[in-house]
Amino acid sequence: TGMFTYDPGFLATASCESAITYIDGDKGQLLYRGYPIEQLAENCDFMDVSYLILNGELPDDKQKQDFDSLVTHHTMVHEQLQLFMRGFRRDAHPMAVLTGLVGALSAFYHDSTDITNPRHREISAIRLIAKMPTLVAMAYKYNQGQPYIYPRNDLSYTGNFLRMMFATPCEDYQVNEVVERALDRIFILHADHEQNASTSTVRLCGSSGTNPFAAIAAGVACLWGPAHGGANEACLQMLEQLQAEGGVAKVGEFMEKVKDKSSGVRLMGFGHRVYKNYDPRAKLMQATCKEVLTALGLENDPLFKLAMELERIALEDPYFVDRKLYPNVDFYSGIVQRAIGIPTPLFTAIFALARTVGWIAQWDEMLSDPEYKIGRPRQLYTGSAVRDIKR
Ligand code: CMC
Repeated sequence: TGMFTYDPGFLATASCESAITYIDGDKGQLLYRGYPIEQLAENCDFMDVSYLILNGELPDDKQKQDFDSLVTHHTMVHEQLQLFMRGFRRDAHPMAVLTGLVGALSAFYHDSTDITNPRHREISAIRLIAKMPTLVAMAYKYNQGQPYIYPRNDLSYTGNFLRMMFATPCEDYQVNEVVERALDRIFILHADHEQNASTSTVRLCGSSGTNPFAAIAAGVACLWGPAHGGANEACLQMLEQLQAEGGVAKVGEFMEKVKDKSSGVRLMGFGHRVYKNYDPRAKLMQATCKEVLTALGLENDPLFKLAMELERIALEDPYFVDRKLYPNVDFYSGIVQRAIGIPTPLFTAIFALARTVGWIAQWDEMLSDPEYKIGRPRQLYTGSAVRDIKR
């Protein structure tokens, strides 16, 4: 391969050093700043985890309170963003809207352009984390044709998001604790995942010295694809379609289609580039799924039964076993979100909301390194040799 290492898809290339997230794909282990994801999901809320990812340590009570109030203080977005929203078709995909809105934030915060100043970087991080729920809820309300609901500062991060989504001016929304806890857990499980495609995008984009809102907008755009964050939406669509075609009785037939490569059908929510044993987030998500469905009286949810059946068959089938394909985080997260009342097209936007913490922490980590350089991959040229125009 001449002068360069050729590694399409980056199967064997480390692009950076990072102290944030550790994954052991063979063990099925995920750590944020050294803490196992299981312990974080059990003992912490999303604000604890955000603080941890950004600062390297879990907050004590005072630090937590200060962080909470700092984030709360920044949840409002500029009123003019409502005019920007109006330019979108009502049926626009929320990820299209979100890519635009996040990028547009850069036009409102001129201090964010000074990325060499750690104080400015920190305030941009807080603004992004604080405003994402507001923006996602705005995208939903616009699509529904309902008035926007402003953030309320006495609610938790996740409770506030639920209220901005589901309250109306005629009727307030009572936050159900089980629902709040489940969504908060979805946020925790999606908060960071080392150098995945969207995080690498944010780093590469940010390495040019661009504004953080622009870099995060690039991450949102990357996350949208069905091989990445879009998998949760694609997974639920797959389950719904299979249910409509006969449900559990048709699982065998469907699996034959998945195993036949020429069909182009993949079992969405299965497989992972790094996890080759199991995805620890999927286990936690499955448990949350059971909890939420029970609390909401939806234990007999046919899609959950269908998902369990698909998983059962796949875990015994040599096609999946040989290729080390296991359910990933997205296999059950869609069922939880659907039970909560979140419409399918919004799933990836919720993923983006949570991943913003990881993206911005990784961006900041990169810029804090005095040795950092603009990312600039090379290529193996396969085009024509030099030639002359003959006219
Ligand atoms: N269904 C059927 N076959 C699969 C699947 C699947 N979901 N995933 C991988 N395979 C097969 C694939 O065809 C290939 O077979 P062979 O070796 O015979 O050619 C083998 O398994 C390896 O797959 P790959 O595509 O080379 O693996 P990758 O590391 O490039 O892809 C992946 C990883 C996640 C893109 C892929 O497993 C996939 O497309 N899964 C479905 C989409 C999905 O659930 N994505 C969410 C990932 S987790 C959340 C996130 O990152 O956002």
